[in-house]
Amino acid sequence: MARNKIALVGAGNIGGTLALLAGLKELGDIVLFDIVDGVPQGKGLDIAQASPVEGFDASVTGSSDYSALAGADVVIVTAGIPRKPGMSRDDLIGTNTKVMKAVGEGIKNNCPNAFVICITNPLDVMVGVLRDACGLPHEKVVGMAGVLDSARFRLFLAEEFGVSVEDVTAFVLGGHGDTMVPLTRYSTVAGIPVPDLIAMGWTSQEKIDAIVQRTRDGGAEIVGLLKTGSAFYAPASSAIAMAESYLKDKKRVLPCAAYVKGAYGLDGLYVGVPVVIGAGGVERIVEISLNADEKAMFDHSVGAVRALNEVVVKLGL
Ligand code: APR
Repeated sequence: MARNKIALVGAGNIGGTLALLAGLKELGDIVLFDIVDGVPQGKGLDIAQASPVEGFDASVTGSSDYSALAGADVVIVTAGIPRKPGMSRDDLIGTNTKVMKAVGEGIKNNCPNAFVICITNPLDVMVGVLRDACGLPHEKVVGMAGVLDSARFRLFLAEEFGVSVEDVTAFVLGGHGDTMVPLTRYSTVAGIPVPDLIAMGWTSQEKIDAIVQRTRDGGAEIVGLLKTGSAFYAPASSAIAMAESYLKDKKRVLPCAAYVKGAYGLDGLYVGVPVVIGAGGVERIVEISLNADEKAMFDHSVGAVRALNEVVVKLGL
């Protein structure tokens, strides 16, 4: 059987890390695409030269021609500009909307059967622009945000409790931004919900509140430290988990920016919700019950995503 093909649109910090991870995990042959000629080719060659050392078999190449996407099974999109200190994800909207439209055309013309994962920010809005530009079914176009946000939440909880990150599950809903909704009630250590752990004296509500805030600010914390760009290792790992669930039909339950129509009372909007990812793409949206506080936070987050969608419409690009 021929290997799967993974196309990475954008060969910057996240794109390069995605290529290395996809190689190490032997997910398939990899092609990097970027408008800056030489960068995808150079990174592709560099990673290919790691393959004999690491012991993975994959072709890793680069191109500045959209035809390189032909027949891709998975496309992961990071094309665009990242944040600099002082910028919010929303400040990227004008530039990245234009980029999503160009990338969407490239996908439509070269790999209309792919499963497409968008990482470009502001995420919930950009994944919608990309979907409309490529015209693929909604269940085949999804945004990576919740896996990253919940990974940050899991790390901070594991550090607080002094337990393995493997035993911490965390749950994040809503848009990928300051309004994201980390749900402590559905976050656990080996199945024990965080509120129970507070009752057991493992931590305090104040500490959990601080962790929730640090999770919301997780991207900005890294932008502030790096000064020249935004996070790239954990975002790449997160998108690879989604790609792997699709390619191997693992049916993992992952929080993603998915198109929600009907569930959660939404009438057709990309926003972060738990979904099942398998060979059919987004195979199911998991609708959990929210209490009044959680619903208010979710509605606030949805409102923020809607407001940005309107900004895109007004741009008229
Ligand atoms: N087509 C293809 N590639 C493009 C295009 C385009 N139209 N426009 C820009 N690029 C490329 C750039 O040349 C660059 O190599 O996208 C790449 C982006 O890489 P970085 O600047 O290193 O950004 P990165 O950290 O990888 O983040 C990419 O993901 O998390 C989000 O906010 C982040 O939107 C940003 C994106």
